[in-house]
Amino acid sequence: MKKAIIYYFSGTGNTEYTAREFKNNFDANGYETVLKPIDFISNDFSGEYDLYGFGYPIYAFGPPKPFNSFIENFLKNNKANNGKAFVFTSAGGASGKSERIIGKKLKKKGFDVKGAFLIKATSNYPASKKIKSNGLTDKISEQVKKYIPEILDENRKAKTKSFSMMHPIYWMFTNMGTKSFAKGLAADEKCIKCGVCVRFCPMNNISLVDDKIIFSQNCSNCMRCLHNCPKDAIQFKDKTQNLSRYHGPLGDYKPPMRKD
Ligand SMILES: Cc1cc2nc3c(=O)[nH]c(=O)nc-3n(C[C@H](O)[C@H](O)[C@H](O)COP(=O)(O)O)c2cc1C
Ligand code: SF4
Ligand code: SF4
Repeated sequence: MKKAIIYYFSGTGNTEYTAREFKNNFDANGYETVLKPIDFISNDFSGEYDLYGFGYPIYAFGPPKPFNSFIENFLKNNKANNGKAFVFTSAGGASGKSERIIGKKLKKKGFDVKGAFLIKATSNYPASKKIKSNGLTDKISEQVKKYIPEILDENRKAKTKSFSMMHPIYWMFTNMGTKSFAKGLAADEKCIKCGVCVRFCPMNNISLVDDKIIFSQNCSNCMRCLHNCPKDAIQFKDKTQNLSRYHGPLGDYKPPMRKD
């Protein structure tokens, strides 16, 4: 049986659901597919697979900071260099073709890149907005299904690129926007000091000090803390007190946790 692995990062569950849909389709086509969230994984990429998938949500037309760190480590430490690969992004509507840039990096490393796709989901930005999930599972599933024949086509080569016109916006967001967002985060009186947010923050940006939850400024704006605190105690300024929290297209998203 052929083996596939899908590495992904997901803040609020859309990318995770999309990765699951890819897995279901590959498994139905004779693959055994492993789903691997990139949070808190080691740099041991010694396993060999016939097909490698990489997925992430779009933040200001580019990848989240945790995905950038992961792909850098992967490209440095992966020894296989000869698998087939594809990249997918999850976005409200526009990815700045970021997935093609990651595709190019994989190609340079020797991967046979079959596809670099934007899967349109729903926007989870800004923080104060209710996320619309009506019909989302079908919308994502249909797009994934459409791309399966392309990924499995032995002769197909993906379009890739090395630069995006959107890069200045992405640079400003990554270096300035993320810090200013983090300044607006705080835990309110509903917080029971369970430490769950400390363990699922992908940037190690949340700490429990002297019985208080503290946010630093090393944030990726992933929205995970806002939506996944078990007491809905994390707020962004005065904008989210009445906001219903989102747990992915199926309502079952649970972020990965740091073990220590
Ligand atoms: C900080 C931030 C910036 C975003 N920027 C974009 C964007 O440039 N284009 C877009 O289409 N969607 C954008 N989105 C929406 C997300 O890409 C989209 O909701 C995605 O499906 C979230 O995936 P997740 O649930 O796996 O985290 C942004 C979301 C956040 C939190
Ligand atoms: S997950 Fe929520 S309740 Fe638990 S420590 Fe963090 S803010 Fe407090
Ligand atoms: S502080 Fe919240 S939004 Fe920022 S990286 Fe951590 S979980 Fe994501």
